[in-house]
Amino acid sequence: MSFPAHRPRRLRVNPAVRRLVGETRLHPSDLVLPVFVKEGLAEPHPISSMPGVYQHSRESLRKAASEAAGLGLGGIMLFGIPAAKDAEGSGATDPDGILNVAVADVRAEVGDDLVVMADLCLDEFTDHGHCGVLRPDGSVDNDATLQRYADMGVALAQAGAHMVGPSGMMDGQVAVIRKALDSSGFAESVSILAYGAKYASAFYGPFREAVDSSLEGDRRTYQQDPANGRDGLREIELDIAEGADIVMVKPAMSYLDVVARAADRFDVPIAAYQISGEYAMIEGAAANGWIDRDRAILESLLSIRRAGASIILTYWASEVAQTLRS
Ligand code: PBG
Repeated sequence: MSFPAHRPRRLRVNPAVRRLVGETRLHPSDLVLPVFVKEGLAEPHPISSMPGVYQHSRESLRKAASEAAGLGLGGIMLFGIPAAKDAEGSGATDPDGILNVAVADVRAEVGDDLVVMADLCLDEFTDHGHCGVLRPDGSVDNDATLQRYADMGVALAQAGAHMVGPSGMMDGQVAVIRKALDSSGFAESVSILAYGAKYASAFYGPFREAVDSSLEGDRRTYQQDPANGRDGLREIELDIAEGADIVMVKPAMSYLDVVARAADRFDVPIAAYQISGEYAMIEGAAANGWIDRDRAILESLLSIRRAGASIILTYWASEVAQTLRS
């Protein structure tokens, strides 16, 4: 036998062979598009730290949703930015609040052709920017926040959301939201995509601009320490026990180990959120000519798939779906 006896390169010899042996593929139906909609906007407003991403008006959001459905995306995840914020985040539970009306708009536009999801959290609605309500000393009050989340879940379901995404990292949030949905007639129709493992990440930076956040300080008393993998698995396990239908790891690229371990261990669908800072890094480097933008985007998404996420939230969802179809 000649040397080397083993030649893995034979399976890389041309594009046809590489395609044949490819283990992981991207498909539009695995992708979910996160979108921002701002109350009172007449025209979409660009987000400078996320080139190509906009704060939508209600009108332009409907167009984006209809485009997403036409491209065969798996879903759309809505974030609302109210015109006025307050300490309790009242806009989140107001049936006329921006997120609730936008969910209704999108649902009217796409029907059941696209899974309509909404971020279930107070931070876009509070004037202090935290994900929950505060005690007089400024700390986040877990159990008082749960009641707000339960009400918000019901408001979103009534507006027409197929799925709600609790992202505030309060203990017990999935259980109280599930219970509230069940007792309001949504036991069978509205599911929960839980942000199971959600880390206190510097990569959320551009998101703060996207939602006009006024947060000072950080979220380290409720989001997880980037040092801890096991804590992420524990959070996911609790969310599943509390009734989560799908669990998500967030951010994605710096936490692929958590995605892989979660996919190994749990039998619910695993989602990963490629967040604002991951988007901004690739766009920023590409704008400087330092990386090949299109290849970097596909490679980043393929890596998240390969790690074990069957669902990916990405701001490039519509663009990538277009690429995959052509
Ligand atoms: C909380 C929430 C955040 C993101 C999604 N949901 C912000 C945070 O937790 O600090 C970040 C998404 C992104 O950065 O793209 N409502």
